[in-house]
Amino acid sequence: MVRSLIDIATLSVDEISALTNCAEDIISNPAKYAHLCNGKKLATMFFEPSTRTRLSFEAAMYEHGGSVLTMADSASSSAAKGESVADTVRTVSCYADIIAMRHPKEGAPLVASMNADVPIINSGDGGHNHPTQTLADLLTIKREKGRFDSLTIGFCGDLKFGRTVHSLITAMARYENVKFVLISPVELKLPGYIRKDVIVKNNLEYVQTTDLEAVMPELDILYMTRVQRERFFNEEDYLRLKDSYILTPEKLRDAKPDLCIMHPLPRVNEISVAIDSDPRACYFKQVLNGKYMRMALILMLLGIKP
Ligand code: NCD
Repeated sequence: MVRSLIDIATLSVDEISALTNCAEDIISNPAKYAHLCNGKKLATMFFEPSTRTRLSFEAAMYEHGGSVLTMADSASSSAAKGESVADTVRTVSCYADIIAMRHPKEGAPLVASMNADVPIINSGDGGHNHPTQTLADLLTIKREKGRFDSLTIGFCGDLKFGRTVHSLITAMARYENVKFVLISPVELKLPGYIRKDVIVKNNLEYVQTTDLEAVMPELDILYMTRVQRERFFNEEDYLRLKDSYILTPEKLRDAKPDLCIMHPLPRVNEISVAIDSDPRACYFKQVLNGKYMRMALILMLLGIKP
């Protein structure tokens, strides 16, 4: 069976290092990578909205000299006629060498990987996982902090439905002396299965709180997130919770001078635009790092050596 990327836990710590090293080499020597995917095709199958993830996969493939087939809108695909994910992916794997898939159903990319003979990249499955955003986040942490160990990371906002949070916690749980500070409204706490199976099982230090300002001074990284409106069962709950945390310059008063402020984007209200010019704001750097890591990942899954 070909190798896919469905869950970040299936990449070893050594493989993460190899991917970040490859991404840094792409940044330093772009010309070396310009033709490595000549004649190869990436298909993007996005059954949910996306700006960064889809376009960065497409940009990544073009920068390798490859080409792209896009099934951007599920409403205009045969999914609208009732076709199964398995049949759709079998079809697309006749045309493409690698597929990036986003789907509102948890597990859909896993099902796809069991039915395709080309690599499938999970580009977000419901409120579950988002491993390639984690690759973007990891390269950002490496470039900003120079290490993955001995960091205190605050995750703030929608920790229940925020799939980028789930995947980044899973990835960071493997490094030494990492501490998690989980900041959310009670209703949007980290799911118990991640807290127990990932954090507690690995004996990692963590705290849960509703108070962002109280924990601000101890954070090395602050990972803000959007309240995931599309996962709520009723609009009233969303409206009540959506502005639970809004990061403003005043709230950074007691933050470390070298805090790294991250956000997977899109931002709605969680970070005031007044913070964008603060040197600690790293969220647009994450976007660019995501393209380099997707370039590295495409090479790895296609078995292409630079
Ligand atoms: C995230 C996602 O889709 O989960 N966006 C992204 O891919 N950068 C975060 C979000 O939508 O809030």
